[in-house]
Amino acid sequence: MIKIENLNKKYRLRGKDVFALRDVNFKVEDKEFVIIVGPSGSGKSTLLLTLGGLIHPTSGKVFIGNKSVYGLSIKERAEIRKTDLGFLFQTFSLIPYLTALENVQISLYVAGKKSVEQKKIATQLLEKVGLGDRLDHKPFELSVGQQQRVAMARALANSPSILLADEPTGSLDPSLSEDMLNWLGTLHKEGLTIVMVTHNHDTIKRYATRSLNLVEGILSERNN
Ligand SMILES: Nc1ncnc2c1ncn2[C@@H]1O[C@H](COP(=O)(O)OP(=O)(O)O)[C@@H](O)[C@H]1O
Ligand SMILES: [Mg+2]
Repeated sequence: MIKIENLNKKYRLRGKDVFALRDVNFKVEDKEFVIIVGPSGSGKSTLLLTLGGLIHPTSGKVFIGNKSVYGLSIKERAEIRKTDLGFLFQTFSLIPYLTALENVQISLYVAGKKSVEQKKIATQLLEKVGLGDRLDHKPFELSVGQQQRVAMARALANSPSILLADEPTGSLDPSLSEDMLNWLGTLHKEGLTIVMVTHNHDTIKRYATRSLNLVEGILSERNN
């Protein structure tokens, strides 16, 4: 379960305040697939990063399960990121000089898994996304669709209960975009809780259990 209470985020840029999130309240139950729709600049990435324990809110609280994320020590917060959360980004954020296998292994390494174990799990995950014969390829030696699958395998490496996805179809053509959404739909059916932000509602609404609007940092429920 994720709960957000009175969340505000203000950035300060060259002497000016930018209000990215304004008094956001919401709750995501386990096994929901929630999408948050908003135009560019509406605060979507800020919301996901705050949810994921990656940027401190200016005020307000984020709970993952019964833990108040920003009430924890840095170490405890990192622990939650490693064990409960998976992240998927628009640009995939793969490390260019590492192979597909190493890109997936790295989150297992960070989580403290032994090298043999890292290799085994990373190989299985890459096989699952159809890249069993591309383990030694670096990102630039893979197609965009294959890079996306590496990012997916990496996001799932620590068997997270919650996946946070920031416009994961943003740089994909329609057919790859459809593949990605199908995957997310399948993972959701298998029990994963998903929070996804996007500027394009149409492509995703058939997969989601609930959708919300984010406009200029203000979150509201949608009716469709
Ligand atoms: N590090 C930052 N410093 C200052 N302003 C920022 C920073 N990151 C984002 N913003 C501003 O906060 C607002 C929300 O940004 P963001 O969360 O990236 O929106 P979205 O993901 O919906 O495009 C925008 O006006 C953006 O310019
Ligand atoms: Mg964004």
